[in-house]
Amino acid sequence: MEMIVKLAKLEEETVDAAIIGLLEGVEMSPSTAAVDRALSGAIQELVEGGDLSGKSGECAVLYPRGAVAAKRVLVAGLGKPDKLDLDGIRKAAAVGASKARDLGARHIASLVHGGTAPEMDLARRAQAVVEGTMLALYRYPAERQKPPEENKEVESLTLVVQDPESLELALRGARLGEQLGKAVTLVRTLVNHPSNIATPTFLGQTAERIAQEYGLGCRVYDRAWAREQGMGSFLAVTQGAGEPPRFIVLDYDPGIPQAPTVVLVGKAITFDSGGISIKPSENMHLMKGDMAGGAAVLGAMQVMGAVRPPVHVVGLVPATDNIPDAQAFKPGDVVRAMNGKTIEVHSTDAEGRMILADALCYADRYHPAAVIDLATLTGACVVALGANMAAGCFCSEDWLQDKLLQASRGTAERIWPMPLFPEYRETLKSDVADMVHTGGRFGGVGTSAVFLQEFTSYPWAHLDIAGMGFSEQKPANAYTPKGATGYGVRLLVDLVQSW
Ligand code: BES
Ligand code: MN
Ligand code: ZN
Repeated sequence: MEMIVKLAKLEEETVDAAIIGLLEGVEMSPSTAAVDRALSGAIQELVEGGDLSGKSGECAVLYPRGAVAAKRVLVAGLGKPDKLDLDGIRKAAAVGASKARDLGARHIASLVHGGTAPEMDLARRAQAVVEGTMLALYRYPAERQKPPEENKEVESLTLVVQDPESLELALRGARLGEQLGKAVTLVRTLVNHPSNIATPTFLGQTAERIAQEYGLGCRVYDRAWAREQGMGSFLAVTQGAGEPPRFIVLDYDPGIPQAPTVVLVGKAITFDSGGISIKPSENMHLMKGDMAGGAAVLGAMQVMGAVRPPVHVVGLVPATDNIPDAQAFKPGDVVRAMNGKTIEVHSTDAEGRMILADALCYADRYHPAAVIDLATLTGACVVALGANMAAGCFCSEDWLQDKLLQASRGTAERIWPMPLFPEYRETLKSDVADMVHTGGRFGGVGTSAVFLQEFTSYPWAHLDIAGMGFSEQKPANAYTPKGATGYGVRLLVDLVQSW
């Protein structure tokens, strides 16, 4: 989708749909009122007649019959003025864009919503409009013998700005929104891809392409390299998988000698069958999405390359299938991780923490200011917090948790603080190794986190995104369609940008 930002009047844009926002229960913003005047008060009439209120999620379609240059005017609800935030803007943009596409609009124009709320700066509002639009219009490029009949796609979005001083700001925000939109699109498609397409090799190639296009360093390592590194925990999971594993390193260097280093680690189990501790077959197909953490890291690294923040950012993505064959690791096996600690395997279905263990050890070589890992790690986290509610956030330092919470608020990618009780460690005691990798029946999300902590030696945050990577039923919200969500990209970028 092409994106244009310009100094113009929305009434004069020749597009298939002009999108404006409407707040609930208050006077119209000057720019919305200008469109209403051009329509001889048609919007006001709808409001007075009770047909339109400005509620979030609402969208009215008006046919201006030549009164404005656009073929249609779409009025998207922004909700109550005291509740309006960036996510309200994102959602209104999403509802407007979805409606426009349904109606067959190819070229759309929009105001930068929320202008009456001065506490939200124009750049972030423009960013939110572009994000909401791009994320709502996402479709998985499915291979079908017969292409869908309704081949409707929006080709361009024009953001109009009223005064010359704000053009620069709007442009900056819109460009960032566009980069985030592109990256989330990439992540969703990677996660939606079946595991016979999105193999570790494919993820490695994707990383190389991102590095080429966005100016990042990139290394894609194989099994032999992991052996040299002493990554016995990662290797155990790869043993039974026919697909060759990959350990992906993306490196964004800002070229500033004193820049702090932030390492992002993402679990990329390209298919989680459970291994020898095999999963029930019902819903096993969803485990193609067990690489959502790794995909989010690839997406975030792409945006680093595009926006080039003054922080050294490294992305580590251990990638492998978890599939059983005659070589497969087995319950009872003892393996040695890169930091020398030995691990007794109980369930081969607790594979995520095993590949992360070595990736977390490897992160140490960068002397990081912080390491953040994202992983679809435990069903227990989904039981605790619910699906598409929040990622469980386990953090070794309060300041890091505060930064993450701040990023979470701005992006509406929710995280929820969870405890790293040292007592969880008791449940990991082993008779034959330094630890077992799973705890008992209770507190499964907490025990997985303290297991990971054994492999960290720096400020660290672990985000369990098991409930966030995929939305199975209805859309999670107006800009998150069914299927892969692309969770984490916007959160990580916001975190790094405000470092
Ligand atoms: N990938 C799964 C966790 C998962 C579950 C992600 C549901 C997304 C949705 C993970 O590898 C796993 O199988 N975890 C086990 C751990 C257990 C064996 C200790 C689980 O949660 O059951
Ligand atoms: Mn598993
Ligand atoms: Zn898994």
